[in-house]
Amino acid sequence: AETSTGAKIFDANCASCHIGGGNILINHKTLKKEALSKYLANYDSDSIQAIIYQVQNGKNAMPAFKSKLSSQEIVEVATYVSQQAEQGW
Ligand code: HEM
Repeated sequence: AETSTGAKIFDANCASCHIGGGNILINHKTLKKEALSKYLANYDSDSIQAIIYQVQNGKNAMPAFKSKLSSQEIVEVATYVSQQAEQGW
């Protein structure tokens, strides 16, 4: 899974702040399942869509990616993050 398209997009665009599914800026807002469930709006009802929304629009210190990544790339990276969260990174 580390060589999937989603993994490559994550490594190139997200790992600088979210290496290993963490968060170097706001330590508790990680990409681990428990943190996503607690802090990311609508994660429990539609995890992929909730991640897509955050990546498209950003939030606070996280930049928006809708003008940097294609919608296909955002789906790929969101699917990767969701899978990694389920597997515990
Ligand atoms: C939060 C994904 C890039 C900084 C989050 C969250 C997700 C996410 C799903 C919600 C986590 C939670 O609330 O527990 C991604 C993805 C990225 C990316 C998939 C690449 C496409 C980045 C980058 C930075 C960053 C490059 C730093 C420059 C942050 C910060 C938060 C956050 C500061 C917390 C926002 C807040 O609620 O105040 N990210 N991220 N992210 N991310 Fe990212």
